[in-house]
Amino acid sequence: MSATDPRDTLTITDNRTGRRYEVDVLDGDVVRAIDLRQIRVNDGDFGMMTYDPGFTNTAFTTSRITDVKGGQGVLEYRGYPIEQLAEKSTFLEVCSLILDGELPTRTELDDFVGRVTRHTYVHNNLLTILQGFRYDAHAMGMMISTVAALSTFYPEAKRVDDPEVRRAQIVRLIAKMPTLAAFAYRHHKGLPYVYPDNGLSYAENFLNMLFRIGGGDYTPPPALTRALDILFILHADHEQNCSTTAMRVIGSSRVDPFSAIAGAMAALYGPLHGGANEAVLRMLVEIGSTDNIPAFMESVRRGERRLMGFGHRVYKAYDPRATIIKRAADDVFAVTGRNPLLDIALELEKVALQEEYFVKRNLYPNVDFYSGLIYQAMGFPVELFPVLFAIPRTVGWLAQWEEMIQDREQKIARPRQVFRGSPRRDFVGIDERG
Ligand code: CMC
Repeated sequence: MSATDPRDTLTITDNRTGRRYEVDVLDGDVVRAIDLRQIRVNDGDFGMMTYDPGFTNTAFTTSRITDVKGGQGVLEYRGYPIEQLAEKSTFLEVCSLILDGELPTRTELDDFVGRVTRHTYVHNNLLTILQGFRYDAHAMGMMISTVAALSTFYPEAKRVDDPEVRRAQIVRLIAKMPTLAAFAYRHHKGLPYVYPDNGLSYAENFLNMLFRIGGGDYTPPPALTRALDILFILHADHEQNCSTTAMRVIGSSRVDPFSAIAGAMAALYGPLHGGANEAVLRMLVEIGSTDNIPAFMESVRRGERRLMGFGHRVYKAYDPRATIIKRAADDVFAVTGRNPLLDIALELEKVALQEEYFVKRNLYPNVDFYSGLIYQAMGFPVELFPVLFAIPRTVGWLAQWEEMIQDREQKIARPRQVFRGSPRRDFVGIDERG
């Protein structure tokens, strides 16, 4: 990044010393944190730095992948609005776009789909790892562990500076995630694994591995396959969120992408991030009836709990993904029947959007508010909801990881701290301690 116009500078006066400093203003409203280091009272001082818990006002990187305009409720992958991609594209085409920056030609897309399809199988030894889990192990715990284990099957993945090696692992990860997820689900159910069917589309194959029983025909209704593909498109990337930041931070140590993805998945698992869709469903079940909404809202207002699926660090308007999901829900419910929890969700949204507590804080439904209702209607168990987020987000994590590896400005992530602990003191033997 560099300032182009000489007027793009900021003058800072240090009132402690009376000294003035000029720092560049980049991209309209960004200053480099390192430029503040020159501000010091004494020559030996470390110099000034910024304090920003939760990175609420820190740009950790430059990026060309995804743009979220939070105030306007806009989400674009490589410049293309999410609404157009959800309507006109497919998940694998969106993967290609996110990874390469441009919509693929037909030949490029066929080649990409072919490569992903050829890598859906996992090494049989992974099944032994899955066998080690208890029958009621959470699917995300199994996924995190098996993805990490994949790194041991592909030791060449350590060569993160080799573009061809990188691309091979990217294809492997996108291809194998649905297989690992389906195997985790079948383990939980005590059902035999269904191996990938390379004649099916990405979403069809996933549904087939999850739900096929015996040798009979299983063809998921096209409306459900399409709805799942749309949900995958909506979850593919979301710039520098918690798990993507984890991916970049872990990847900055130059570890292989399988290990980094395991870390990103762990970050996603939490209820404030990708675990929110599961938390929303559990919340709706707990509320149980629209009659109980006033009491629930009162507890939210008192700060005793959060309305899960509401609020976002970046969106201060309706999350555009929630709008698309709400519409897709109708197509799914036409096939599966209406999810009875929808009435509670709709009423919660109506009440919340009128409540001063939510209006004042700009809290709107986010992507997780309605997605769980669709997943549940489609037959997915609640424990699989965060996994359904992780599968498509894999491409976002990988694209951001590759961008970071190629970015010459990036270094190993190593923030500073403001130390507030004890000053130096001498060790006291255990018998002399008070
Ligand atoms: N219910 C009730 N109050 C809330 C909520 C909520 N869902 N979200 C934020 N607030 C309040 C919060 O208590 C705070 O109030 P006050 O100013 O009085 O202290 C204010 O709004 C600002 O909240 P914050 O926690 O400082 O905001 P944040 O940007 O740090 O957190 C968030 C963003 C998404 C973690 C938060 O809104 C939240 O916990 N939402 C519920 C969990 C959720 O739905 N997560 C999914 C996020 S979208 C998909 C994803 O990224 O995975």
